[in-house]
Amino acid sequence: MKVCVIGTGYVGLTTGVSLAFLGHEVTCVDLDQAKVDMLRGGKCPIYEPGMEDLLAEAAQNLTFTTSYEEAVPGADVVFVAVQTPSAEDGSPDLRYLRGAAETVAQNLNHDFTVVVNKSTVPIGSGNWVDAILRDSFEQREDRPDGVEFAVASNPEFLREGNAIADTLYPDRIVIGSDNARSLEVLNRLYRPIINQTFTPPTFLPRPEDANAVPLVSTDLASAELIKYAANAFLALKISYANEIGQLAAKVGADITEVARGMGLDQRIGSRFLQPGVGWGGSCFGKDTKALIATASEYNLEMPIVKAAREVNSRQRAIAVERLQDELRILKGRKIGLLGLAFKPNTDDLRDAPALDIANSLIARGARVKLHDPVATGRFRIEQPELSAYLSETIDDVFADCDAVVLVTEWAQYLELDWSKFVGLMRTPILLDGRHVLDADRMRRLGYRYVAVSG
Ligand code: UGA
Repeated sequence: MKVCVIGTGYVGLTTGVSLAFLGHEVTCVDLDQAKVDMLRGGKCPIYEPGMEDLLAEAAQNLTFTTSYEEAVPGADVVFVAVQTPSAEDGSPDLRYLRGAAETVAQNLNHDFTVVVNKSTVPIGSGNWVDAILRDSFEQREDRPDGVEFAVASNPEFLREGNAIADTLYPDRIVIGSDNARSLEVLNRLYRPIINQTFTPPTFLPRPEDANAVPLVSTDLASAELIKYAANAFLALKISYANEIGQLAAKVGADITEVARGMGLDQRIGSRFLQPGVGWGGSCFGKDTKALIATASEYNLEMPIVKAAREVNSRQRAIAVERLQDELRILKGRKIGLLGLAFKPNTDDLRDAPALDIANSLIARGARVKLHDPVATGRFRIEQPELSAYLSETIDDVFADCDAVVLVTEWAQYLELDWSKFVGLMRTPILLDGRHVLDADRMRRLGYRYVAVSG
């Protein structure tokens, strides 16, 4: 099928490259010429493991352009995956979505095109985009006859750092539209994934437990709400583990054991129960906020979602309190943070717990050293006002420190020879911000091991 993807951010690029890999003819549009040039050269503008390999494997079906005129006409499906940044009041700024919809309408010429909202947009945006498309199309002087189109929602559930596997081997695919023909087109588009009939990319074999993928084919509003409801649920699952973690610390229980014991109940499930400094990233914070805002338009409170947010921001404060409990005075202390990115395998710093923790330590007079395997370049550009020192080496983060905090559980940190660094520290306080290190082993090596929850 012929596919157009508008926006080559995380979501758009992963969608476009994956669909091209599956054999569809895909044109990706981005207004940023530099990005398009990079992608044409096979280089990926974001840090995402495997993306450049997939670009290479999909190259013959993939075109990048800055021109809507080149990409939209003739497309069976147009994915709109433009950015929806938060406006000042926290609501999503939909001006890029509006601009994209208007320009798509100027270029529709096919007998039937499905325009798919792929960005996470507020509930009701499908109807809004539909109205913009119809108005803009009606105003066209060169309006061709026999052109039909409909709007659908097809939320994505990919995690940064795992984007390709989450797209090719998803738990489910959700498509929503109030137009039956759109659902049929999208069903056809995704059939290779639904039936798992494609040959896997050479670098990413099909997981042994991969089965046919369930398709949730539903109405527009339900598809839009599924995305928010799922993200908010994951966020509150983590916050729940963190809330229980605080009680565990008081009663002398081990939260890791508690989470394991809970997670083995299949009704609960073990994933997203990992306690620590809490969730960050571009999605959970923004989506929980948007869900609360949408509900308030209907005079509804979302007490559970609100509590998940409160618990999450408290976790970051608790990390600093733990250091204060150990060191008493933070002023003048040197503290190293391992990990800046909001989670491993990404250089994304949006709402990263490390930034809040660093700012809070600096505000209390501590000197902060930061280390990350990939995110320091981005940090320099995006956080010029955060006055911390960037360590190039692991030795340097530990050297002379009063405490070191593991904030992001990068594999290379977990695999360190931890015996080598304890001697470099002024006081060997090690705060495990993710509950991933072996406490007994760390204590044997001479660290004063503490964790966020206990
Ligand atoms: C999240 C969802 O997992 C995806 O399904 C969704 O598509 C995406 O948002 C989105 O809406 O675009 P992502 O934000 O990339 O994906 O990252 P996650 O792997 O979900 O991690 C989010 C945060 O939760 C990270 O800061 C991570 O460290 C933290 N986390 C995760 C925990 O603190 N504990 C856990 O047990 C799991």
